[in-house]
Amino acid sequence: MATPLTSSLATLAPLILAAIMMCSGLAHAELERFEHSPKPDNSLSFLVVGDWGRKGLYNQTEVAVQMGIIGEMMDIDFVASTGDNFYDNGLTGVDDPAFDESFSKIYTAPSLQKQWYNVLGNHDYRGDVEAQLSPILRALDSRWLCSRSFIVNAEIVDILFVDTNPFVDEYFTKPGGYNYDWRAVLPREKYLSNLLKDVDSALKESRAKWKIVVGHHTIKTAGIHGNTEELVKQLLPILEENNVDLYINGHDHCLEHISTADSPIQFLTSGGGSKAWRGVMKWPANPDEVKFYYDGQGFMSVKITPAQVDVAFYDVSGSVLHTWSRTKEIFSIV
Ligand SMILES: *[C@@H]1O[C@H](CO)[C@@H](O)[C@H](O)[C@H]1NC(C)=O
Repeated sequence: MATPLTSSLATLAPLILAAIMMCSGLAHAELERFEHSPKPDNSLSFLVVGDWGRKGLYNQTEVAVQMGIIGEMMDIDFVASTGDNFYDNGLTGVDDPAFDESFSKIYTAPSLQKQWYNVLGNHDYRGDVEAQLSPILRALDSRWLCSRSFIVNAEIVDILFVDTNPFVDEYFTKPGGYNYDWRAVLPREKYLSNLLKDVDSALKESRAKWKIVVGHHTIKTAGIHGNTEELVKQLLPILEENNVDLYINGHDHCLEHISTADSPIQFLTSGGGSKAWRGVMKWPANPDEVKFYYDGQGFMSVKITPAQVDVAFYDVSGSVLHTWSRTKEIFSIV
């Protein structure tokens, strides 16, 4: 049994460590980490939805209903959001009714009453970003968890959620009349180099069988926004070097699966949470890389066991549009 002294030392230890790191000028914060245990049978499943918060309009409610049904069938453990959580301009503050109208009152199915892990999209950065990160929202709806960059450690898989917004040059050079909330992001170069270092070391330290990275922006896409070249240059090499299995994003309001000969990573877009049907595509030079592309609304599911990952895409009526699976040797050395 711990004596009061040792237990209070144990509580203080992280604080002392943090203080030492700050004093020594090595205050290079690691990514925030959340533990999410898999099921007793060592499997884990979750849904991915992106680009959604429109108060139920543009089929957001219809997608939510089908997420509820598939979520129930799969007995999902959590939901991941690829960002653009609130249109058009994020939240105005913690008291913005859009939080209730676009989130709490929309995803009402019992199976969706799980943890939601959210990243921010560019539209979120046009509002009060700190509001989405605030514990006040978590108190209003305990499912809500939004952070800039963080890790969900689920034993068989490590999922890294990465804030991709500050990588995009255009938001800084040609903000197009929008006010991006770059508080806590500036100076940008430092933020980006720290983030890349954190992502690299988190992936290097990962002992999980599978590695997934989630961000808002595309790396490879056939959608209207095209590849995010800043991510292709700066983030992709780190993901490839560290054997990431899946990169999952939103931003393009579609569902798609891209797989290229030069990268073992599967590029999966789940950005069909509400407004879609853009009707514009930027097909890559090699069309064979596009394994699946759907311009309409829907969402994606992921099921993981130590030996296998299964991905599926669903439309607004819950029909399966595309599936993809990969197996790994259970006893292989990672
Ligand atoms: C809602 O989904 C249906 C079925 O895909 C589609 O025909 C309709 O255009 C969608 N509505 C909007 C506003 O996108």
